[in-house]
Amino acid sequence: TEETLVLVKPDGVARGLTGAILARIEAKGYALVDIALVEPERDTLERHYAEHAGKPFYEPLLEFMMSGPSVAIRLAGNRVIEGFRSLAGTTDPTTAAPGTIRGDFGRDWGLAVQQNLVHGSDSPESAARELEIWFG
Ligand code: GTP
Ligand code: MG
Repeated sequence: TEETLVLVKPDGVARGLTGAILARIEAKGYALVDIALVEPERDTLERHYAEHAGKPFYEPLLEFMMSGPSVAIRLAGNRVIEGFRSLAGTTDPTTAAPGTIRGDFGRDWGLAVQQNLVHGSDSPESAARELEIWFG
């Protein structure tokens, strides 16, 4: 089996969508291995988003991720990495397909960062790295 790191980002928690998002994950059949409400420090987010350092949306992204609590989830199942990213939809919530988390619940709020409700690891290497950051 495989594991991935999912975050319900601050916009998802603040809008009360954590339950709806978890329901989709559970309905798909993936197993919750661990789950925690988290309020990450800046250094945790710098590690998590190291690949985006220097990009125009990097600082707004870190500010956004420190704007309120997130829910961190260790999720397991065969091909769960690609499976969750399929559930989440593409990065831009305006055009993410209906039926996906981002496509059904997200939109452009006119902010410097795309508030797109969830994060999911994008490869086995990312998943191992990110699970270590968020769950140790
Ligand atoms: P994650 O699952 O959150 O990693 O999303 P992703 O893999 O679809 O996107 P990526 O890793 O490329 O970017 C990380 C996060 O930065 C995104 O989820 C958005 O919140 C934000 N972001 C990415 N690209 C852009 C962009 O071009 N403009 C803005 N404003 N924000 C962006
Ligand atoms: Mg990413």
